[in-house]
Amino acid sequence: PHKQRLLVVANRLPVSAVRKGESSWQLEVTIGGLVSALLGITDFEVKWIGWAEVNVPDEIGRKSLIEALAEKRCVPVFLDEDLVHLYYNGYCNNILWPLFHYLGLPQEDCLATIRSFQSQFDAYKKANQLFADVVKEHYQEGDIVWCHDYHLMFLPKCLKEQNANMKVGWFLHTPFPSSEIHRTMPSRSELLIAVLAADLVGFHTYDYARHFVSACTRILGLEGTPEGVEDQGRLTRVAAFPVGIDSDRFVRTIQLPQVKNHIKEFEERFRGRKVMLGVDRLDMIKGIPQKLLAFEKFLEENPEWHEKVVLFQIAVPTRTDVPEYQKLTCQVHEIVGRINGRFGTLTTVPIHHLDRSFDHHTLCALYAVTDVALVTSLRDGMNLVSYEFVACQASKKGVLILSEFAGAAQSLGAGAILVNPWNVTEVASAIAYALNMPSEEREKRHHHNYVHVTTHTSQEWAETFISELNDTVVEAQLRT
Ligand code: UDP
Ligand code: G6P
Repeated sequence: PHKQRLLVVANRLPVSAVRKGESSWQLEVTIGGLVSALLGITDFEVKWIGWAEVNVPDEIGRKSLIEALAEKRCVPVFLDEDLVHLYYNGYCNNILWPLFHYLGLPQEDCLATIRSFQSQFDAYKKANQLFADVVKEHYQEGDIVWCHDYHLMFLPKCLKEQNANMKVGWFLHTPFPSSEIHRTMPSRSELLIAVLAADLVGFHTYDYARHFVSACTRILGLEGTPEGVEDQGRLTRVAAFPVGIDSDRFVRTIQLPQVKNHIKEFEERFRGRKVMLGVDRLDMIKGIPQKLLAFEKFLEENPEWHEKVVLFQIAVPTRTDVPEYQKLTCQVHEIVGRINGRFGTLTTVPIHHLDRSFDHHTLCALYAVTDVALVTSLRDGMNLVSYEFVACQASKKGVLILSEFAGAAQSLGAGAILVNPWNVTEVASAIAYALNMPSEEREKRHHHNYVHVTTHTSQEWAETFISELNDTVVEAQLRT
């Protein structure tokens, strides 16, 4: 049967391009929850539209990159360096990202940020319009256009201005904060109005959806209904669609012979020690310093564990042109150095901190050998790492320590040990509790999470969103 065409529009493509010659390109997989979730979609004919990531000023380069990406069903949007600086480094990652995660504006250059707010916001709108222009070139009647994340809040409006009949959905992969936070943004109304142009607006949790509806009622004075937000008889449907992972892919991977070998090597290398694992982009929302301090406190209080536990912290470099991320990197390195200096011996250190990413196979092997996974996000839209860990733990049945501020806490709460990442004492005791947990309790907790992770997949997430979008459009037509 023929599949429905779906144009996925996101700032990031699932591959990023590195130029190797005048017209030759090397494509590498990109990292982040949004890409992981969307790669799990199979039952649609998907075309991705996203930022090319490299600055390509010349025609030969552009043409060859378009061709290289076409093989991956991807279409690049070209943004020049100045625009990227204001739109991506500036408005998206220095303003929207910290605000949506309740971190406030970066303190040190707060005044500079406030001063440049308008020019960054103008660049944001301009970039969104450039995405819309590319959608226009590729749109065919009947296509569904699914816009993603905080980078593209203006896109639904740009698209509907092009074509009022286009089916447009928008999904936010981050939290949507309390309306009291959203209220502080100079562009608060414009952003909301632009998103409301979509037919369907989706969030990971019911709380985020509720925050969005309150922002629309309090700031715009619109009417909130159980279905969504109404403006002069026109409804924008708002609902929660918690994302999942392609769990089969993880289950299959850990059964591959080479991955099994890898797992065995690991186990031999760390025999006699419990393995703890953190996998995060090196982002302030992940609470990495807080996690390290909690681990330090645990070591302080439990000398008997000193040579019996090791923490692997994978910290994937991200948004490295944004000053706050550079500062975080230094801060984390300093803490790791101090703890390893304090508790290391001639042969071992308690923390293996790695500033790099790993491929799917290695990552799965790591997940599988882990006894305790530590997810301490200060805020996190969902957090797929926690899902992936659970999917790889069918034989080990390890423990998940999970921040109550991650969206995943709402689905894995009964199986995980929930913690407040700001409370270092609490996290330190959770580590002790997890390491000492009897196998019966571990199995029970694991089972709960495993059932959830394997039955709420990314494919179902996409199907539910798209079918809701189709229904919403039909209902709107019936109403007029
Ligand atoms: N990831 C990866 N390689 C790594 C580290 C992470 O592919 O070395 C992936 C990981 O498998 C997960 C994603 O990055 O799918 C992170 O998603 P999550 O929702 O946890 O957080 P986000 O990065 O979106 O904030
Ligand atoms: C989060 C965001 C995504 C983003 C990812 C990686 O998951 O919700 O939109 O793609 O982080 O960040 P980056 O800035 O590298 O795209």
